[in-house]
Amino acid sequence: MLGFVGLGSVVESAWLPALSRLAAPRLRLLGVDSDPARTLPGVEPVSSLAAMLSQPLQGLLVTTNSAAHWSVLQQALDSEVAQIIVEKPVVATLAEAAALAQQLADPALAGRVLALDHWTARVEGLQTLLGGLPGGSPLHGIHDILRIDGYVRERSGCNEQGEPCALNFATGEPDRRQLRHPDGVVLDTGTHVLAMLREWMVANGLPCGLSLHLRAMTDRLGQTIPVGDVATAEGRAELAGTIGGVPLTLHLDKYAGPDGGRKGLVVTGHSGWQLSLDRKGNSDLLLFEHQGQRHELQRPGALYDYCLAACLPDCQPGIETLGRAVRQAMTRRRLEEVTLLLELQQAWRNPIS
Ligand SMILES: NC(=O)c1ccc[n+]([C@@H]2O[C@H](COP(=O)([O-])OP(=O)(O)OC[C@H]3O[C@@H](n4cnc5c(N)ncnc54)[C@H](O)[C@@H]3O)[C@@H](O)[C@H]2O)c1
Repeated sequence: MLGFVGLGSVVESAWLPALSRLAAPRLRLLGVDSDPARTLPGVEPVSSLAAMLSQPLQGLLVTTNSAAHWSVLQQALDSEVAQIIVEKPVVATLAEAAALAQQLADPALAGRVLALDHWTARVEGLQTLLGGLPGGSPLHGIHDILRIDGYVRERSGCNEQGEPCALNFATGEPDRRQLRHPDGVVLDTGTHVLAMLREWMVANGLPCGLSLHLRAMTDRLGQTIPVGDVATAEGRAELAGTIGGVPLTLHLDKYAGPDGGRKGLVVTGHSGWQLSLDRKGNSDLLLFEHQGQRHELQRPGALYDYCLAACLPDCQPGIETLGRAVRQAMTRRRLEEVTLLLELQQAWRNPIS
């Protein structure tokens, strides 16, 4: 039995379709939403979070909007629920990040929390695709890498005023919500690139220490977010720095036009090779170029399918789920990334404090 707290767009368009595609029909799904009118087919409504937490749940899934993750997580940690999975970003403020870091120092609490980012499910596929290149992966150590660029350039539409507007990631319909911090690109999409990149570095035994600064940050209309404005969501941002000592640039844009743009990584090697991981339709696409040769490989499948199979027990028979130590290390890394991104955009908005 799994319990969802928050029955919004990500549950409807990503979690439930993934669970139904996986061999999970015998899972009973419960759900609670602060809007009692919000229910979803296949999810039994529960009257309150307290009522949910009194059930013998295998896992609790925190899928509220980001600003509410913290309070739900605190109530869940006070309950008997053994496994709590929190959608990204795990927290939404620096105060929450500091308090969670302190809580996670207690192994008993740390073992119960997984900070989830579905882009981490791209790492295993990338490793497989790299292994499928003629000659295998070009990456043997950190010194092979000259630079890394991370991208989230999302498709966008136009509203009635002719201004750029976001599109629902699954349905493609205009998303008419007025986005506010923490739902700007720095935290909302910077987390995706950093989570995937750092798990990939870890999978390759590479150092993944981060140092970043914000080069640019504008709102949906391309206007600079002024000092003191702590509410407006960032529509575009560029961050630069290093990962494991290698130069890193993040290009984040929620309003990249009707065709959208790259969603992934470009890694450039010292010896002239370049590998690019992008998302096209329902597939991850690897392009490797070196000395005039081009190799293209694909891994089809929805990211949530891979992600949930790895983190939910009994979701897909035969698939080994992440062990406790791995989950703890992943959660620690997600919290580090969220803390850094929050520090950067807070310092920009309010440099005096
Ligand atoms: N939509 C996406 O593309 C996407 C993708 C990956 C991750 N996420 C993450 O998933 C989370 C949810 O995103 P979404 O797009 O579904 O948001 P949403 O606004 O569509 O849904 C959030 C739901 O949570 C409910 N809610 C808010 N506070 C609550 C509380 N205290 N208790 C119970 N319910 C509460 C709201 O009523 C709403 O129905 C966010 O943290 C987001 O960062 C979203």
